[in-house]
Amino acid sequence: MTSHDVGAKGNDIMRIGILGTGSMATALGGAWVRAGHSVVVGGRNTAAAATTAARIGAAGHGGLTEAAAHGEAVLLALPADSAPRLARELAPVLAGRTVLDCTVPMAAGPDGPRLTSAGGTDSVAARIAAAAPDAGVAKAFGICHESIWTLPRPAFEGAALAVPFCANTPTAAAFTAELITSMGCSPLSCGGLSRAALLEAAAVLAVGVWWSGGEARHVFPSPALAPGAVDDEP
Ligand SMILES: NC(=O)c1ccc[n+]([C@@H]2O[C@H](COP(=O)([O-])OP(=O)(O)OC[C@H]3O[C@@H](n4cnc5c(N)ncnc54)[C@H](OP(=O)(O)O)[C@@H]3O)[C@@H](O)[C@H]2O)c1
Repeated sequence: MTSHDVGAKGNDIMRIGILGTGSMATALGGAWVRAGHSVVVGGRNTAAAATTAARIGAAGHGGLTEAAAHGEAVLLALPADSAPRLARELAPVLAGRTVLDCTVPMAAGPDGPRLTSAGGTDSVAARIAAAAPDAGVAKAFGICHESIWTLPRPAFEGAALAVPFCANTPTAAAFTAELITSMGCSPLSCGGLSRAALLEAAAVLAVGVWWSGGEARHVFPSPALAPGAVDDEP
């Protein structure tokens, strides 16, 4: 990471390029603008990029290459199957930057949403890393619905939203953690990029729970909420 100016909220001001102009570009981009970061929105349709940039108050807009060239970090807010292909096309520009992958490889299945990747080393994040080998890559922001990022301060039951992420370089991990903190959330490191398939699968599982009318946030209670249960184990 390079040294940064300090924003009004005390956080470092980071330069972020966003590739894509849809829901996640708008929601995450808006959160980053609120945190004081310098955001440029890029799309294959530059009119759409201009509209999204104006909506969130971004510093600028342009094509995909221009947005990528702006960012110390570059968000791929694209369909999962398009992200590795675009990363390969832009690999020379992405070199030395942190690519943020929020994609969820998901399609409707007979029993609810299903993973469209094979998991393991076939995660979208791993394919992005292979396509842009000189970039750092972090998997993050895919677990929550886009609406969560529009909240001024995502906190629930008194606790800041925990944002799990994994990354393939210390720089990408540090940048992602700092970015999450600047959004008023709590970074939750899940290790290296080999863990990305777990985050992708977790996102698909969560969507399936919501679609079936369940409440995904009630699925992972801490053992500490069952006094004695842990101590009673042999
Ligand atoms: N929406 C959510 O709540 C949510 C939550 C977590 C994760 N995600 C993940 O975030 C990613 C983006 O989702 P979204 O909801 O923001 O989708 P979206 O609203 O449909 O926006 C997708 C964007 O990708 C662009 N795009 C599509 N194919 C492209 C290509 N080949 N090259 C360049 N740009 C391309 C589209 O541009 P055009 O307008 O020109 O087609 C559009 O700007 C997906 O992988 C999704 O799984 C979404």
